[in-house]
Amino acid sequence: MKILNLKTSTCLVIVGLFIGEFTCSTSRAAGVTIGLAADSDVGLGGKWTKARAEEWAAKTGNHIQYLNLPPSANDVLQLFSQYWAARTPEVDIYQIDVCWPGLAAPHAIDLRKYFSDDDMKQFFSRIVENNTVDGRLIGIPFFTDAGLLYYRTDLLEKYGYKEPPTTWDELVQMAKHIQDGERAAAKSDFWGFVWQGSAYEGLTCDALEWIYSYGGGTMVDPDGKITINNPDATRALQMAKSWVGTISPVGVTTYKEEESRNLWQSGNAAFMRNWPYCYALGSAKESPIAGKFAVTVLPKSTGDSAKHAATLGGWQLMVSKYSSHPDEAADLVRYLTSAEIQKRDAIELTRLPTRPELYKDNDVLAANPWFGQLLPVFSNSVARPSTVLKANYNQFANLFFNHVNKVLNNEETPQDSLASVAAGSVKLVGSQK
Ligand code: GLC
Repeated sequence: MKILNLKTSTCLVIVGLFIGEFTCSTSRAAGVTIGLAADSDVGLGGKWTKARAEEWAAKTGNHIQYLNLPPSANDVLQLFSQYWAARTPEVDIYQIDVCWPGLAAPHAIDLRKYFSDDDMKQFFSRIVENNTVDGRLIGIPFFTDAGLLYYRTDLLEKYGYKEPPTTWDELVQMAKHIQDGERAAAKSDFWGFVWQGSAYEGLTCDALEWIYSYGGGTMVDPDGKITINNPDATRALQMAKSWVGTISPVGVTTYKEEESRNLWQSGNAAFMRNWPYCYALGSAKESPIAGKFAVTVLPKSTGDSAKHAATLGGWQLMVSKYSSHPDEAADLVRYLTSAEIQKRDAIELTRLPTRPELYKDNDVLAANPWFGQLLPVFSNSVARPSTVLKANYNQFANLFFNHVNKVLNNEETPQDSLASVAAGSVKLVGSQK
C-alpha cells in the first residue's frame, strides 16, 4: 500500500472574531496521510466510514488512505497481525473487534494521552473497561453490537401469530409452519430461519447465544474456570444442529452475516439472527422487505435456567504504536467517535452508538424507536470470554467455532465437540499473556 507523506503544515489559526470559540491545535501538523483500516463491506459500513474520514481530512487539510477489510473478523485479525508483526507505519488507525484488546494492546498507543477521564465518561463504562488493558486505553468505542432476532411481521400475521416467538421451541414451530405455507405457495426457496453457521467468529457469537440462553454459561467464566462442557450447552448445540436442513438451509453452515442477510432481505426467510446494521438495509426503499419486518430479543430455552441472550459485539478505533502521525490519527479517532458522527451512524446505518446519551436523542429515537425499546437487551448483552483469556482469546474462539461447525455438519456429536473444546482450552486458560 503506497501512502503519500505530505508534510506541508497548513494549519490556519483563525484569530479575531472567533477567539474563544475556535481552537486549532498548533502542535498538529496538517497535510499528512492517515492510513485507516476500518469497516469492511459488511453492509454499507466501509463506504460510510471512508466518507466520514474524508470529511475529517477535508476539514483538517489531511489525507486518508483507506484500507477496506475482508468481511470475516478472523481474516481481518490475520491481516492486522501481519501488519503488526511488520511494525508497519502505513496503517495509523485500526478498527478492532470488542474481543481483541488483549491481542492488540502491544501494538497500540495509550489513548489516555488524548482522551481525558471526562471524555471517556461519555461512553458506556463497560466498553471503556473492556478496552482498558493493564491501565492503558487501547481503543475508543466506535459502535457497539448485539445479536437480534429479525422477524417478518407480514408473515406472522398471515399465519395467525400475534407475537414473535419467546422460546426456541416456538421459533422452530413458527418457522416450520411459515416455511411449509410459503413453499406450498410456490416459494420453493423459502426458509424458516437463517443465521451464521460458518466456521468463523460469527459462529462463536451465535453459539454463545444458544448456550447462554439454555443456562449453559459463557464457555469460560470470568475467573478462568472452563465451563463449556455441560449438559445445557450440549442441549443447545443439539438444538442448533436440528435446524440444519429443516428450518435452515444446509448451506447455513457456510453463512456469515452477509449470506444470511442476502437471503433474508430477498424475502426468502421468516426469521434471521443478525446484528443491528441489517435494519437500515432491510428498510431501504429498494428492499423487498421494507416495512414488513421488526426486531426483538432472541428466544430462550424453556428450562429453569433459561435466559434471553444477545452476544456483545462492536468495534473500537485504535492508534498504532508504529504510526508516524499519532496526533492526527487520534484527532481522526476523536472525530469518528464523536456524538455527531455516531448519531449519523445510528440514523443512517442503524449501528448502535457507544454513547448512552444518544439512546435518548429524539432524532435517533424517531428514526429507530426500537433502540429505546431494546436498550435493556443491549445493556445486558453477554460478553465472549476475551477479558479472561486475553491474548489467547482468538485461539480459544478458533477451537470453539471449528468444533461447533463440525456439530452442525454432523461430523461430531455435541458431547464430543464440547469435551474437545474443554480439553483444548486448558493450556489457553492457564497461560494467558
Ligand atoms: C460483528 C460484531 C463483532 C463480531 C463479528 C462476528 O461485527 O460487532 O463483535 O466479532 O460480528 O462476525
